[in-house]
Amino acid sequence: MKAMRILAIETSCDETAASVVQDGTKILSSVVASSSKMHEKYGGIVPEVAAREQLRCIVPVSREALEPLETFHATRANEVIKRHIDAIAITVGPGLIGSLLVGVETAKTISFVTGKPIIPVNHVLAHTYANFVQSCQPSAISHQPENTKLQAESGKLIAFPSISLVVSGGHTELYLMKSIKDLTWLGGTLDDAAGECFDKTARLLGFGHGGGVAIEREAHKFSIQHSAFSITLPRPMMDDSLNFSFSGLKTAVMREWKKYEDHSEELINTFAHEIKESITDVLVEKTLRAAKKHNAQSILLSGGVAANLRLREKFQSKINNQLPSVRFYSPEVQLCTDNAVYIASYAFFRGTPTDWHTITAVPNLSVEEI
Ligand code: KG4
Ligand code: ZN
Repeated sequence: MKAMRILAIETSCDETAASVVQDGTKILSSVVASSSKMHEKYGGIVPEVAAREQLRCIVPVSREALEPLETFHATRANEVIKRHIDAIAITVGPGLIGSLLVGVETAKTISFVTGKPIIPVNHVLAHTYANFVQSCQPSAISHQPENTKLQAESGKLIAFPSISLVVSGGHTELYLMKSIKDLTWLGGTLDDAAGECFDKTARLLGFGHGGGVAIEREAHKFSIQHSAFSITLPRPMMDDSLNFSFSGLKTAVMREWKKYEDHSEELINTFAHEIKESITDVLVEKTLRAAKKHNAQSILLSGGVAANLRLREKFQSKINNQLPSVRFYSPEVQLCTDNAVYIASYAFFRGTPTDWHTITAVPNLSVEEI
């Protein structure tokens, strides 16, 4: 059977990303340009700055993603796409309107010029599919007929039903996956997302944009034996529901932080440690609860916060203790934060080719749509 190659474009937040993926699993290229450094001094993403940077980057990034397919001159990109690409996948939402428009209009133009079909993708749902690409962890065995292709292509098989936790800067969502195509939303955050909580509390501790990485780094310096401080934060919403709430945690951090006049490095490290432990405890507890309720055979972690090593480690050890027959998957760190690889993979496994006329950017696209 002829291989299917998808060129995917992702511009929902502050990244400009393009990738070519074969049969949903084999990464032929992945290019990511980020404007995150430009937002540092503002402590958060400035939408117009992000969109302007994406306008500047979208052509060179897309071109670079095509380069491994064939050596070509810039003006011949349409011929390369016609020869090697079968469809264009594009993130249509949720995200920042100016940013989404850059990617959506570029993808529509490529589709118009080359005649290739276009596949709209929901960014949040797509994060999970970073777990299905080849460069991830070793395989499990499954018996789902829909996975025959997946097994043949990647040598990796994920057993269903599966619980997927997508945990990013804007989202904390739990899904039940009965097969590679069948996703049902189970619950999500009622207010701040986990990544947002990392970012906002990091800002309070004095760090700039992209706070999850800063909290992880500072927490690493914490030593339980040597710290002169003892800080205990709540584990919010540990009830029976599959929803999350992180805004109270942010307020609790603020309250505790104000009790101290001298914000020494040791105090910062202690706060970072406790913030990280609190957020990861809640994420693991709720996901395992969903896995027990739905008799899951596997758990899939994804989204920017999945890059957190403590979260991955905690998942693995709690699963070993409580659900030893369940397999745990998390993508390689560089596939957790925004990129176009999982957009292509989602499009292959679950997308619907659509006429380019009908494609529009939908900033508030629901986490259950498409
Ligand atoms: O998926 P992503 O790149 O963009 C969105 O779709 O939101 O996720 C970005 C989020 C940010 O909140 C960032 O602080 C968080 O992922 N993040 C981390 C880590 N790396 C990125 N959070 C905790 N630990 C990390 N190592
Ligand atoms: Zn994302």
